[in-house]
Amino acid sequence: MVLLRVGIIKNLITSSQYRQMHLLKNLAYVNGEWAKAGSNVVYSIKNPADDSVIAEVPDMDASDAKCAIDAAANAFVTWRWTTAKERSRILRKWYDLCEQNTEELAKLVTAESGKPLAESRGEIAYGNSFLEWYADTARHINGEIIPSPWPNKHILMTRQPIGVVSVITPWNFPFAMITRKVGALMAAGCTCVVKPSEDTPLTALAAAELAEQAGVPKGIFNVITTSRKNAASVGKVLCEDHAVGCISFTGSTQVGKILYGLAANGIKKVALELGGNAPFIVFPSADIEHALDQAMLAKFRNNGQACVGANRFLIHEDVYDKFVKGMKDRISDRCVLGPGTKEGVTCGPLINLNQVKNVSKLVDEAISQGAKALIGGKVRKELGDKFYESTLLVNVKPSMSVFTNEVFGPVVSCVKFSTEEEVLKIANSTRSGLASYVFTKDLGQAFRMSTKLEFGMVGINDGLLSAAEPAFGGIKESGIGREGSKHGAEEYTELKYTLMSGLDK
Ligand code: SIN
Repeated sequence: MVLLRVGIIKNLITSSQYRQMHLLKNLAYVNGEWAKAGSNVVYSIKNPADDSVIAEVPDMDASDAKCAIDAAANAFVTWRWTTAKERSRILRKWYDLCEQNTEELAKLVTAESGKPLAESRGEIAYGNSFLEWYADTARHINGEIIPSPWPNKHILMTRQPIGVVSVITPWNFPFAMITRKVGALMAAGCTCVVKPSEDTPLTALAAAELAEQAGVPKGIFNVITTSRKNAASVGKVLCEDHAVGCISFTGSTQVGKILYGLAANGIKKVALELGGNAPFIVFPSADIEHALDQAMLAKFRNNGQACVGANRFLIHEDVYDKFVKGMKDRISDRCVLGPGTKEGVTCGPLINLNQVKNVSKLVDEAISQGAKALIGGKVRKELGDKFYESTLLVNVKPSMSVFTNEVFGPVVSCVKFSTEEEVLKIANSTRSGLASYVFTKDLGQAFRMSTKLEFGMVGINDGLLSAAEPAFGGIKESGIGREGSKHGAEEYTELKYTLMSGLDK
């Protein structure tokens, strides 16, 4: 009885804490209106740190998705012809409001994704940088005039917006993965329907509230919320409806393949940012202390739950012991596990139990095959069921699942190598090709690695590549298309060729 009362009081405190979040919304956003599901069904969004219910949101289904696509298609008729200057102005206003509301947005990110508040603030700054960048880029999406091979004829290449974009985003960056896509597509003159992750729709809804305040016209930015139960049927409509011109997805390679298949039925354009399996390579000439600090960033950002996160540590035999010792010291000094709202915490919970199961399985299997955990290696039960310890594994073989699979958790797996040729072979022996990291002071080696690594992105002496300015994306099974930079906006355009002839007669 006493326990029950304590539970009730605790719930009241937590729910009142959520009630104070003024950007917390419990309705979806379609055609400029706050909307329920047609079925009236809702589902709960829980804080992964303690499973408290933050809010209940509409559990929308395929028919709700269809309504949102129709709204986006209607809005496209006008939005596509607004001037680039006007689109830029609106995006800038949205950016300003997001900047002003950084703290509120960050609190929502921490509540629904579990990441430490300081990291959430970083994510909002990162996400805002895309709105700012695309407010500028909107006015620089240019075509070409090409000298023609014929007299008195002119070749015009113009860029036209592709139409409605279905935007499907993950839980690991609930804000930045939306602004990176939506900023780009709005700049290009497209409209969209966003389906945020089932686990983290609240930041997306807060972004919709700020978009409305910024004057984004109705129907351009729609957010539909849906539980896992309806995700597949909603995804199907988002990929197959004839009004949709492009499917932009960030998430697992497995889901990306399904969406690519669905998109193929309508010969739809896709922009896919999928899983990685990033090598983190350290050569003897590297500044090892610097490499270690960068390794902490590359591995423990969002507690290892990032597609660009370092997954396979390949350390030259001459510096292996030094690196491993430095990593162990840094993990024990800097990785503080706990709820993201607690002062000093640097590593939050994993997003859900499925994620805990995946990480535990990979680590346990590696240990059973001879790997050794120098630190960590299990769930810290006294904190909750999703707090996985920051882990350092040695005696790892490149053939182990913890090395061949994307772990998506706080696990550093180290393998020793002897030659450049050998390390290139190991690093490239994967179907993934997103990010890679190399630490060397040898200029020739830096260039060779940059050329020969089969990855869309190579960080030389740096563990964090992401920004609005460069083109972010992968090759092989890590994706198709680029995000950020001017190329990110061009993904949402079609190049049209017009031949101007007979005008001199
Ligand atoms: C991701 O993990 O999906 C994206 C990370 C980033 O943008 O840096």
